[in-house]
Amino acid sequence: MSTQDALSWLKDHEDESIERLMQWLSIPSIGTDPSYDEHTRAAGQWACEHLRQSGFSVELRETGTPEDPGHPIVMAHCDGSDDYTGPHVLFYGHYDVQPVDPIDLWESDPFLPVRKPAEGAMGERIVARGACDDKGQVMMFLEAMRAVFETSGMPGGGVKFTIMLEGEEESGSVNLENFVRDHRDELAKTDVCVISDTGMLGRGRPAITYGVRGLAYTELTLIGPDQDLHSGLWGGKVPNPINELTKILAQLWDADRRVTIPGFYEGVRELSAEERKAWSDLNVDEAAALRGIGLPPEAGVGEAGFTFTEREWARPTADINGIVGGYTGPGAKTVIPSKASAKVSFRLVDDQDSEKIAKSFFAWLEERTPAGCKWKFEDHGGGAPATCATDSAPLRAAAKAIEVGCGIAPAMIKSGGSIPVAGLLKETLGLETVFMGFGLEDDRVHSPNEKFELDCFRMGAKSHVALVEQLRHIESSVNA
Ligand code: BES
Ligand code: MN
Ligand code: MN
Repeated sequence: MSTQDALSWLKDHEDESIERLMQWLSIPSIGTDPSYDEHTRAAGQWACEHLRQSGFSVELRETGTPEDPGHPIVMAHCDGSDDYTGPHVLFYGHYDVQPVDPIDLWESDPFLPVRKPAEGAMGERIVARGACDDKGQVMMFLEAMRAVFETSGMPGGGVKFTIMLEGEEESGSVNLENFVRDHRDELAKTDVCVISDTGMLGRGRPAITYGVRGLAYTELTLIGPDQDLHSGLWGGKVPNPINELTKILAQLWDADRRVTIPGFYEGVRELSAEERKAWSDLNVDEAAALRGIGLPPEAGVGEAGFTFTEREWARPTADINGIVGGYTGPGAKTVIPSKASAKVSFRLVDDQDSEKIAKSFFAWLEERTPAGCKWKFEDHGGGAPATCATDSAPLRAAAKAIEVGCGIAPAMIKSGGSIPVAGLLKETLGLETVFMGFGLEDDRVHSPNEKFELDCFRMGAKSHVALVEQLRHIESSVNA
């Protein structure tokens, strides 16, 4: 297997690689919306076909139960060459994408990918839902696999790979836990997980992410009178569920913006002086980041005693993600609504437990129930946080591969986002994960006009080709 040959192949066939990515992106695999189920499956099947062409043995496996089926998981495998002594790598990615709304803000159809020329700071890019999260990033790996197979004739370039592509990541990976348990023996044969679903430190600054936050997602409804009421006749005499709900939710943070739920910070690991120094040395430009989202520098607020970066990478947070109730149509309507509800989520860090956090939040709300009212609670699940080893042989191989692929050594960063599979694999199989991601802060993931820049795509594809060689240099399959 020659890295040089595979890198040349990538260069010579780049337009075809981009074409294939655009084809995949045109399949609207909105996993959370059941009316897109057929398309979501089609996107999984599309990936199966791509992997088969690169010499993998591939299956589309069902998830859930016959009564309540989930989206299928792509499982692919290659054995590795006879002389391969490196780790058995589990590559994870997801082929589902977020819903497109608000659709009016898209400049082009989210499922008619367009290739746009460079403009200002932005390089040449593909605009489509999923362009970065995660089809574009999975595609860097898939095309790297195609390149090594085309040039060496060996599937995976001779590395032992298991590939698992999920269709429910954006809807909380609800069937993944059972799937991992049911396929425990097969997955336990792998030594380390590699994921491309995170970001870089900035343009031209590739990174390895060594930790992601966890998530607990909840929904609550406060129910007052059994009917909507005239606010002139009833206002000021009976509980208005919106008034009461917002008053309660406003108590979630104290003056230091710390979360007030008792026990919330239990288990949260202290930041070490070394880590604080290392992060501060990364020179993250807070003002520029705020400017990029239309905010002035004074808008950078959060938990007292922590920096902009520390708040995202190392501290848990609470956020109201949606709040509804009463009259929201055009014009005025004087009404006391019968109920009000909110979606509230918590980003978690090691060693918080998402189920425990949801339970203590509900108990906290229960204690504050306004007289005569009642609650309806729903736990939408979430995922565990994961911090991964920074000194393992696979991580060193990934760092070297990025250096080869990008011409610059990666920064070591964490991310505030969540990728539930990492915590799950660590808990159930003791697997470490290496996050090799190539997204940019302004990629608008989950938002209208999501894009992925071709320079990022190139860096990622080249780094994954180089990873093959680096893995082949590891002498024992012991994950150390
Ligand atoms: N790829 C993202 C998470 C991410 C983005 C991590 C950027 C690091 C940098 C992933 O697809 C995602 O959106 N996860 C959800 C998790 C959820 C739906 C359980 C999240 O973080 O909100
Ligand atoms: Mn993702
Ligand atoms: Mn996402």
